[in-house]
Amino acid sequence: MINVEFTLRKFEPRDLDIVMYINRTTLPENYTSRFFMEHHERFPEAFLVAEVEGNVVGYVMSRVELGLGCTVKGIIKKGHIVSIAVLPDYRRRGIGSKLLEQAMEALKDIYGCKEVYLEVRVSNNPAISLYEKYGFRKVKIIRGYYLDGEDAYIMARPLIFTAKPI
Ligand code: ACO
Ligand code: ZN
Repeated sequence: MINVEFTLRKFEPRDLDIVMYINRTTLPENYTSRFFMEHHERFPEAFLVAEVEGNVVGYVMSRVELGLGCTVKGIIKKGHIVSIAVLPDYRRRGIGSKLLEQAMEALKDIYGCKEVYLEVRVSNNPAISLYEKYGFRKVKIIRGYYLDGEDAYIMARPLIFTAKPI
C-alpha cells in the first residue's frame, strides 16, 4: 500500500464543511453544525483533523463528561469519543489510529480524564478492531441504541495506570 504522509492539527471553524461532509458520507450518525461547533468551543484540544497535502481527510471529535467509571472506580471525568472517521481512500494508513491516540492524550493530559469510552455499532468490525488495538474493551451492550435499531457496544479503557497495592 502506498504510504501517505499526513499531519494532525486541531479543528478550526473553517474545517466545518469538510468535517460535516466526511461525517455525512461515512456514518449514519449525523449532527448539526451547532453540535460540531460546540464541541470545538468546549473541548478544542480533543477535536482534531488529519490533513493530506492540505486537505482534511479525517477527524475525531470528543467531549468530557462526569460520571461513574466503567473501568475505573468512582465518579470520574470521562473522555467520550463522539465521532471518528477517515475518508475511504485514506483508510488503513494509520490515520484513524493517530487521531484516536492524540485525542486520548488530550483527554488525559489536558482535560484530566481517567477513562475514555465510546459507542460503536456491533457490526462495525473495522472500528471495533481499531479500538481493541488501543486497549478498549466491550463493557456493555445497549440494545437498539441506533435509530435503525442496531445495538451498540460501549467500549472503554482507563487513561491512568493504577498500581495495585502489594
Ligand atoms: N478491517 C479490520 N480491521 C481494521 C479495519 C478493517 N477494515 N480498518 C481498521 N482496522 C484496524 C486494524 O487493526 C488496523 O491496523 P492495521 O491496518 O495495522 O491492520 C487498525 O484498525 C488501525 O487502522 P487505521 O489505518 O489507523 O484506521 P483508519 O484510518 O482506516 O480508520 C476508521 C479507521 C476510523 C474506523 C475508518 O474505518 C472509518 O472511518 N470508518 C467509517 C466511520 C466509522 O465507522 N467510524 C467509527 C464509528 S464509532 C465512533 O465514531 C465512536
Ligand atoms: Zn457517543
